[in-house]
Amino acid sequence: MSTANPSSINQRRTFAIISHPDAGKTTLTEKLLLFGGAIHLAGEVRARGQNRRAKSDWMKIEQQRGISVTSSVMTFERNGITFNLLDTPGHEDFSEDTYRTLTAVDSAVMVIDAAKGIEAQTRKLFEVCRLRDVPIITFINKVDREGRDPFALIDEIADMLALDVAPLNWPVGQGGQFRGLWDLRKSRFTAPDGSDSRSAGATTQMSGLDDPRLADYVPADELAHLQEQAELALGGYSEFDPELYRAGQLTPVLFGSALKDFGVEALIDALAEYAPAPRPQPALPEAVSPDAPLVSGFIFKVQANMNPQHRDRIAFMRIASGKFRRGMKLRQVATGKVIAINSPIFFFAQDREIADEAFPGDIIGIPNHGVLRVGDSLVEGPNDITFTGIPNFAPEILRRVKLGDPTKSKQLRTALTDMAEEGVTQLFRPMIGSQWIVGVVGQLQLEVLISRLGAEYNVAAGFEPSPFDTARWISAEDPAALKTFIDTNRGAIAEDRDGAPVFLARDQWELNYTEQREKAVKFTATRERA
Ligand code: G4P
Repeated sequence: MSTANPSSINQRRTFAIISHPDAGKTTLTEKLLLFGGAIHLAGEVRARGQNRRAKSDWMKIEQQRGISVTSSVMTFERNGITFNLLDTPGHEDFSEDTYRTLTAVDSAVMVIDAAKGIEAQTRKLFEVCRLRDVPIITFINKVDREGRDPFALIDEIADMLALDVAPLNWPVGQGGQFRGLWDLRKSRFTAPDGSDSRSAGATTQMSGLDDPRLADYVPADELAHLQEQAELALGGYSEFDPELYRAGQLTPVLFGSALKDFGVEALIDALAEYAPAPRPQPALPEAVSPDAPLVSGFIFKVQANMNPQHRDRIAFMRIASGKFRRGMKLRQVATGKVIAINSPIFFFAQDREIADEAFPGDIIGIPNHGVLRVGDSLVEGPNDITFTGIPNFAPEILRRVKLGDPTKSKQLRTALTDMAEEGVTQLFRPMIGSQWIVGVVGQLQLEVLISRLGAEYNVAAGFEPSPFDTARWISAEDPAALKTFIDTNRGAIAEDRDGAPVFLARDQWELNYTEQREKAVKFTATRERA
């Protein structure tokens, strides 16, 4: 049974891991779950001990329909704190999905490979976090291998990300000479367990770097070097200030090895001790405090059923306020529709057959037939609340879809509409002409789209170039100005899936030119669901 008091908002940490592929996100995720005693291991699901009865809703849905929701939200508990770890897709294409997942967390862990430092994807994801002041703990991974100088790595973080850094621990040696980790603030030493595996062993509380017991682990000359480095590490960087960290201005840095278990517990402890509990969520007319009594939340991700026999999908809702109970009726603010949520998926339902409640910071999965969309706000009670900052991005690739079999055009439309609702692709209906245009942010999404059209909708399709290269949502303070612009550019105007007008430009030059000429019209690269 859960030991945490679930109603205590302060006992929750909802976070994501950001990293460049291969830095060790998967390995670290597994270790976090292992140390946290969760039942989901390495992407598969195991009931704790022999007790196979511990199946929660999502497991049943997975088994029946063959979908994989396991890895999207992972929950573990440690020392009375519930951790909700939201997975971000691991591929290199910058995806909207990743961006939106980061809108649903209160903090992030940035994993960096000690041999590589900051890589392209780390940087992009970091920028997304910065947009929302998401606080970040840095985990410099793979210290069991030969890597770069720790000072060089920390300086790179400070310089490239323009962020204050505060090392919390320090690697003693690297690669073959790796001796263990020194906790700079708590004067603790974590040594390997002595076997060939070099996994983390005992952590010993020392009186300081002059504690004679350190000689058991570190040869005298290396100890002198460590004393020097520790002094520089503490004196040369910012003091660790948890407030600055929570404001997104400073990152505490932990060295470790996910593979060999070094630094993993220290990371969990740092999350528990310093990472923010559920924060107020930006919304109109005003930010929603987690303490607000009525339930509210927003959909940040929709995952379609991978089984073509079933068209339903799971919408992932982050609870922003209130105490959610199974069977509750929530109102979709955009449409006014009231939805009874009778079979929500509770990801934290570790030991319980059925969970009935969820709290701010938790994620629930809502099975539905395409009614719920990414960006939707759901509320209890009469007040309209619209959560903000969950945008659609202007696509960077526009294509027309070419049908293998022209009699399948109806199925194609259904499929494209479904996938646009899911947020996989965007769909534009030109004012002139009948061929719809599909827009995606990255190449990978095109491949996913084509394979899913075949697998789920039995529609053989390919792409052909669209005459347009880029799209912008258009608006104007003066409705007449917008109408005039639309009327005079009908060949380049389309509607998105919500009916919002979009300007399609042949290339960047044309877009710039039009933007400069049409001062009364506003061209935007992102749009939020109203
Ligand atoms: P990702 O999800 O960020 O893409 O990275 P992942 O965890 O899959 O790790 C990428 C590779 O780095 C894996 O090796 C993994 O074993 C290794 N790795 C992760 N953490 C550490 C660490 O702390 N120390 C060392 N030495 N290696 C680490 P691989 O050879 O690609 O895969 P595998 O064959 O080991 O599974």
